[in-house]
Amino acid sequence: MEHKKLNPELVELVQKWKGKEGNLIMILHEIQNHHGYVPRELSLELSKMLDVPLARIYEVITFYNFFKLVPPGKHRIALCMGTACYLRGAAVILEEIKNILGIAEGQTTKDGLFYLDVVRCLGCCGLAPVIMIDDKVYGKVKKNEVADILSKYIKEE
Ligand code: FES
Repeated sequence: MEHKKLNPELVELVQKWKGKEGNLIMILHEIQNHHGYVPRELSLELSKMLDVPLARIYEVITFYNFFKLVPPGKHRIALCMGTACYLRGAAVILEEIKNILGIAEGQTTKDGLFYLDVVRCLGCCGLAPVIMIDDKVYGKVKKNEVADILSKYIKEE
């Protein structure tokens, strides 16, 4: 069966939105929320799975300014502003990240290293406040730890 080779993330999304109105847009939204942009290989797979021409998918992506085709920064910082994180000081962590990197949410640092995103609940509320950098989760983050966390990625360069 062809689905075996397909990306499990996409299989799940397609099943979730199958037959629902606006499903292509909703799936693209979910992909972008997860990756920070819509990777080309996922568009290609999606085209096969939904039996929608790739050109149509790109039409939708380029029509809505919201969608991005390239990673907005090398590392995506997702700061959780869900209720649990908010109550445990996420706003302070957000301010600290903004101060250190000199960017606001939705922006990329000049060197292209970080993109800052604010999201709702990363699904690990017990660890609040939570930030996620790429696929790595940092829990119970304190203001004075933010610089250290970010510096790991800066040193890697
Ligand atoms: S509210 Fe932040 S992880 Fe759930």
